[in-house]
Amino acid sequence: MVLAYNSYMEVNFYSLEELNESQLNSIVQMHMIALPNSALSNSGIKNLLFFYRAVAKNSSYLTRVAIIEGRCVGVILLKNKTSFLKLGEIQFLFKILSTNILKMKFFMIYDLIVLFFYRFLVSYDAWIEILFVDEHYFNLGIGKKLFSEIISNKENNFRVFLNYNKKNLIAESFYRKIGFRKTFVNRRIVIVSYTN
Ligand SMILES: CC(C)(COP(=O)(O)OP(=O)(O)OC[C@H]1O[C@@H](n2cnc3c(N)ncnc32)[C@H](O)[C@@H]1OP(=O)(O)O)[C@@H](O)C(=O)NCCC(=O)NCCS
Repeated sequence: MVLAYNSYMEVNFYSLEELNESQLNSIVQMHMIALPNSALSNSGIKNLLFFYRAVAKNSSYLTRVAIIEGRCVGVILLKNKTSFLKLGEIQFLFKILSTNILKMKFFMIYDLIVLFFYRFLVSYDAWIEILFVDEHYFNLGIGKKLFSEIISNKENNFRVFLNYNKKNLIAESFYRKIGFRKTFVNRRIVIVSYTN
């Protein structure tokens, strides 16, 4: 059952680590609906759950989950720039690639390479890997609140990037309104940045 959100309801923020198993499962379900075309969603529920469990324990991620009356309604995952990938991350990358590689078209592989080199070359402090809100709670300021929760205690000039699909016009409008500026666009990918 979805509770109608109103201004009397409080939005609380927790880290992934603080969630119980059923809340983690609800996030996985939400992820599949909110980002159906992402490689992570295509890798299946089991891998996605594995991913969220691993992120919860990974110290290079900062995570916030918006909760209203016990129900998870939105998620943001920010990954600090690290000079090397942890072993678990490399294993996971291979797992995702091996489950998706047959479904992947040439341009998807090309896009992954573009993103990889962009991230390698550009100077940034963190990358927002995932941000979504439960569709029943769209346009209530939750996405904006999740972003300010994660960025609020960062130092001045903290530079964060993220990428989204060029066809995602909601993301385009949302990120522009919360202060992101485009830094790269090709036929399918848009990369935007925000400086604190
Ligand atoms: C993008 C998303 C996170 C926005 O979350 P949200 O909680 O609905 O957004 P908010 O209510 O905080 O809106 C913040 C601003 O964006 C604008 N915005 C949000 N959705 C919009 C839409 N569909 N069209 C135009 N503007 C929109 C709001 O008007 C608001 O602007 P304002 O501050 O001037 O009033 C949400 O739509 C979502 O989860 N989409 C699916 C997943 C996705 O595409 N994620 C991003 C790509 S990685």
